[in-house]
Amino acid sequence: MQSGVMRTMRMSGLLLLAVTVSVLLLGNRPAVAGEQPIAFNHKAHVSKGLDCAICHRYVREQAFATLPTLQTCLMCHSAKMSDNPEEAKIREFAKRGEALRWQRLYALSPDAAAYFSHRRHVTFGNIACATCHGPMAERTTPPTRALVRFDMDFCVNCHQQKKVSTACVACHR
Ligand code: HEC
Ligand code: HEC
Ligand code: HEC
Ligand code: HEC
Ligand code: HEC
Repeated sequence: MQSGVMRTMRMSGLLLLAVTVSVLLLGNRPAVAGEQPIAFNHKAHVSKGLDCAICHRYVREQAFATLPTLQTCLMCHSAKMSDNPEEAKIREFAKRGEALRWQRLYALSPDAAAYFSHRRHVTFGNIACATCHGPMAERTTPPTRALVRFDMDFCVNCHQQKKVSTACVACHR
């Protein structure tokens, strides 16, 4: 009996410690770990054969891929399509006239002033999205952080392999 109480107390002490540590760790992370406005499911869309560029519209033509606006979702979801409350949210946003504000996950440090172009890599380099972004297409819920970390080595290693320029000015302008 006595030892049972002791064990419970010790356990809750450990639990408190674990909670404190995770709050501290999470507290250090940037706000990016926040929730997305809708629990978007990549797999449900990509497995139906939808092209990435339906939602990431400029990925083949411009530097930025861009994230979809509510208008893009409404092309298919203006009428109810499922019993999923996350899907109903699309029409609630529309009713309120509110824009979708997706949290960005993949971003280069602004201090580095590095130039990156999707068009260059996707259209000319013919590099698959997953090479840089990991298995985004298989996600059933939005990740809370990037599946692949971008640092300078990530860029330079591939450039060395593919015999592309590694001169500082190629990327830092
Ligand atoms: C060679 C690596 C690479 C490839 C290939 C690549 N990306 Fe990216 N992607 C990046 C980098 C780097 C960033 C961050 C760019 C920045 O912060 O300026 C990014 C950012 C993004 C973003 C968010 C910011 C934005 O540009 O609007 C989306 C969405 C995205 N990529 C989608 C895709 C899709 C879809 C594909 C395939 C069709 C793809 N990417 C292929 C490296 C890549
Ligand atoms: C080109 C058509 C099309 C567009 C554009 C589209 N969807 Fe869908 N969406 C579908 C289809 C088809 C399904 C049903 C998939 C299934 O049956 O599994 C679906 C299902 C869903 C579901 C339910 C998924 C689940 O897990 O059951 C949600 C939530 C959703 N879409 C959100 C969005 C959002 C948010 C956008 C805009 C960013 C969007 N969709 C854009 C076609 C589309
Ligand atoms: C029907 C719309 C839709 C399609 C099709 C789609 N995406 Fe997305 N994508 C989204 C939405 C919405 C988000 C933001 C929420 C999330 O992360 O799930 C997103 C986020 C991303 C991001 C993270 C961008 C960032 O920095 O925040 C990447 C990378 C990405 N998608 C890659 C892909 C790839 C690769 C494909 C094709 C295989 C694809 N997406 C197809 C709607 C779509
Ligand atoms: C998986 C391989 C790969 C990765 C990762 C990669 N690149 Fe590249 N990059 C290429 C290839 C291949 C080309 C040449 C494409 C072409 O044919 O035009 C290229 C071209 C470029 C160019 C044009 C170079 C020139 O001489 O004009 C820039 C700038 C660049 N990449 C920046 C980046 C940055 C910044 C990153 C990291 C965020 C990055 N790349 C990550 C493969 C990669
Ligand atoms: C292929 C592209 C590429 C090349 C070539 C390259 N860099 Fe970078 N560099 C980057 C990217 C992208 C980042 C930012 C990574 C991140 O977001 O953490 C970076 C970050 C840096 C940083 C850190 C800046 C900061 O405050 O975050 C320094 C310093 C730097 N690079 C110097 C150099 C020098 C010097 C060279 C030449 C010897 C060089 N880079 C060549 C892409 C490149």
